[in-house]
Amino acid sequence: MGEERMMSQEADPNEEPIESSVRPQSLKDYIGQTKVKENLSVFIEAAKHRNEALDHVLLYGPPGLGKTTLSMIIAHEMGVNIRTTSGPAIERPGDLAAVLTALEPGDVLFIDEIHRLPRHVEEVLYPAMEDFCLDIVVGKGETAHSMRLDLPPFTLVGATTRAGYLSPPLRDRFGVVLRLQYYEVDELASIVTRTADVLSTPIDHEAAYEIAGRSRGTPRIANRLLRRVRDFAQVVGTGDIDIRLTREALERLQVDEKGLDHIDHQLLTSIIEKFKGGPVGLDTIAATIGEERHTIEDVYEPYLLQIGFLQRTPRGRMVTPLVYEHLNIKDE
Ligand SMILES: Nc1ncnc2c1ncn2[C@@H]1O[C@H](COP(=O)(O)OP(=O)(O)O)[C@@H](O)[C@H]1O
Ligand SMILES: [Mg+2]
Repeated sequence: MGEERMMSQEADPNEEPIESSVRPQSLKDYIGQTKVKENLSVFIEAAKHRNEALDHVLLYGPPGLGKTTLSMIIAHEMGVNIRTTSGPAIERPGDLAAVLTALEPGDVLFIDEIHRLPRHVEEVLYPAMEDFCLDIVVGKGETAHSMRLDLPPFTLVGATTRAGYLSPPLRDRFGVVLRLQYYEVDELASIVTRTADVLSTPIDHEAAYEIAGRSRGTPRIANRLLRRVRDFAQVVGTGDIDIRLTREALERLQVDEKGLDHIDHQLLTSIIEKFKGGPVGLDTIAATIGEERHTIEDVYEPYLLQIGFLQRTPRGRMVTPLVYEHLNIKDE
């Protein structure tokens, strides 16, 4: 394993330019996440009405559901600039101070993977978030003293896949906490149709639904599958995407009707064949399929748990009857 995975929720580095070209820019073009959008638009309206910076916003949810997109939409709707950085990119307090002092009033500062900010950097963020000021130490040794620097009011938008990894003092300083959910098939179909439109690729309703149904509830995967099907349409077809061509392309890509790929199949069949369907411990599974335990936990399992194919029990993982049905295997 270890090859690039078609069905990964994470972005491939090469994917970034194409992803930004298809990102919706306003709240009305952001499909699904109805509750999140409703809340956000109220807060944005209110902040604009008061002529203030929007309260700090924490976005959390699995990769590929639209956190980065939403951060950009927030800036766009507020009519301000956005600066983007990430937790692991800010190594020292000085790095963060440099970013903060460059902000203009009302700006959005987007910190992706905010749970990975080093703790001593995080502490600089507290007074910045709370009082829009920065405590810096000037000078060295005997003459060192602390100085308070005012910052313009700004909005911190933090994104994380792991809200539980955030330290409580940081988490508490966000006025707005929004959790993104996996998307429904009809929402994903709208996203596919919209993206196809941006890419000037004709696609019919049925084909958009077919792609949506295999996208694991994740817009990033839906857009990726669309691009692969489009390649296929351009090479073997007329460029138009219809249902027949879509099914053929997805079959070649080894993405089944549920959006499972060969790695999912390997994981599930090995639990069935070697452990009678479980329960079996995570470490045993890891050793059996030659993967790291945390990769299974973070990358392979979440979707299988989400669709009820895997169950977590105190004695380990178990496949459910749905898997036998889906893989057409007899349960003994
Ligand atoms: N609600 C949505 N409507 C339309 N497209 C979306 C939506 N959410 C995500 N996307 C698309 O999915 C891709 C991944 O979204 P992104 O914001 O980068 O996810 P995250 O930051 O949560 O990993 C982007 O190309 C974006 O255009
Ligand atoms: Mg992102």
